[in-house]
Amino acid sequence: MSSTAAVILAAGQGKRMKSALPKVLHCCAGAPLIRYVLDAVAAAGITEVVIVIGTGAALVREALGDGYRYVLQEPQRGTGDAVARALPQVAPDCRDLLVLCGDTPLLTPGSLTRLLATRREASAGACILSSIFDDPSGYGRIVRDPSGLVAAIVEDGDATPAQKEIKEINTGTYSFDRAALEEAVTELSPDNNQGEYYLTDVIGLLRRAGRAVAALTAPSAETAGINTRRELAAAERIFRQRECERLMDAGVTIIDPAVTYIDRGVEVGRDTVIYPFCFLEGVTRVGADCVIGSGTRLVDTTLGNGVTVQSSLLIRSTAGDGCQIGPFAYLRPGTELALGVKVGDFVELKQTQVGPGSKIPHLSYVGDTVIGAGVNIGAGTITCNFDGIGKHRTQIGDGAFIGSNTNLVAPVIIGSEAVTGAGSTITEDVPEGSLAVERSHQTVVLGWRRKRMLDASGQKPEKG
Ligand code: UD1
Ligand code: CA
Repeated sequence: MSSTAAVILAAGQGKRMKSALPKVLHCCAGAPLIRYVLDAVAAAGITEVVIVIGTGAALVREALGDGYRYVLQEPQRGTGDAVARALPQVAPDCRDLLVLCGDTPLLTPGSLTRLLATRREASAGACILSSIFDDPSGYGRIVRDPSGLVAAIVEDGDATPAQKEIKEINTGTYSFDRAALEEAVTELSPDNNQGEYYLTDVIGLLRRAGRAVAALTAPSAETAGINTRRELAAAERIFRQRECERLMDAGVTIIDPAVTYIDRGVEVGRDTVIYPFCFLEGVTRVGADCVIGSGTRLVDTTLGNGVTVQSSLLIRSTAGDGCQIGPFAYLRPGTELALGVKVGDFVELKQTQVGPGSKIPHLSYVGDTVIGAGVNIGAGTITCNFDGIGKHRTQIGDGAFIGSNTNLVAPVIIGSEAVTGAGSTITEDVPEGSLAVERSHQTVVLGWRRKRMLDASGQKPEKG
């Protein structure tokens, strides 16, 4: 397929989205719309890709990276003008062209392959991917001559009342014989209601030049363009369903796919169970035999095998095999849990490495810290890592035992096997194997309560 190239039109603003962001960068299941078009093109075996950018060009380039050839269309004078600009950039040996819009993310690679084959087999100048829409408003209509051959495409804004009744629409995806297209685009004029160069006018021009034009009909579920936020939300549901099905087919149990939100490309291992109302986002990988409990959100996070997470938020974190997290834990970026770590309820971790088998079971904040193996961190322990100016580090050695409600004022080092007394505010390093207690001695006043009651009532205390 090296002689086939794809031109993707993505310069338009997408006015109906009412957004500062270029339309093609709006996301479905965590990926920009145009990413899905590029995926379909790649899956159809096409490697030569030219993307026409204009509105928010720098943003689009940044989102998609340097793996593509970009053509700047400035100003945007219509789809015909966009293609005319792209053509000189397409490698000369590509005689077969696919033209697609960046806003039709549901297209499948199979339809693209069929579209190319249909044109070639018919030796047609073009093959249009069409669809039958119950409500065709807004789309270009496929006008056929009395013998049923495609005669032209008429845009919605330029259609006569009779043409508006036509339910066969132009999906904006085409295959072209490059030479025929190159010639036809030179003849386009902006003589229409929008004052734009319409790519769709090429169809009538090809017919007049004596070339055949074919049409291939694809199901409407695949060809809808995303023009509004409502359509974006409808596509989101479809992509989400696809991602869940992909994982279920690979051996993952998803209790209720309708309320499970998994981004494009997230990896989950066999026999992992995902409960309702979970979000697996960005570059997230979950191992096998995990339990992802209800209300969990994983963002750019990697979990090993046999990990349990309950109702927790993990961002740019990693957890090794057998870790138990939550309920209600908050793992902020840079948290790295080794094997078999327990992080319990109401624990916040940030930029912290926790060694194998260590436990932070309840109510703690630990930041900028390295914790060794087999450490127990008592409930309510806080690292005081910020002094109002800078962040400081805490180090806790293997087997250390941090008493409940310890404040660790960083920078500070707790040696291995060291112990801190409950309620201590530790400001100095604690040597290996020693106990540090920082709190005043307890005072006991015997009979204090009774004495106070009597004082308050003015009575004399009884003897004895
Ligand atoms: C276009 C088709 C219409 C079809 C519909 C399918 C034309 C004239 N009309 O209309 O027949 O039914 O798609 O969705 O082609 N773009 C550029 N440069 C421009 C203008 C647009 O790159 O100057 C890009 C847009 O970013 C978009 C695509 O071309 O990805 C289609 O543009 P859009 O404005 O959405 O065209 P429609 O009005 O939907
Ligand atoms: Ca469109």
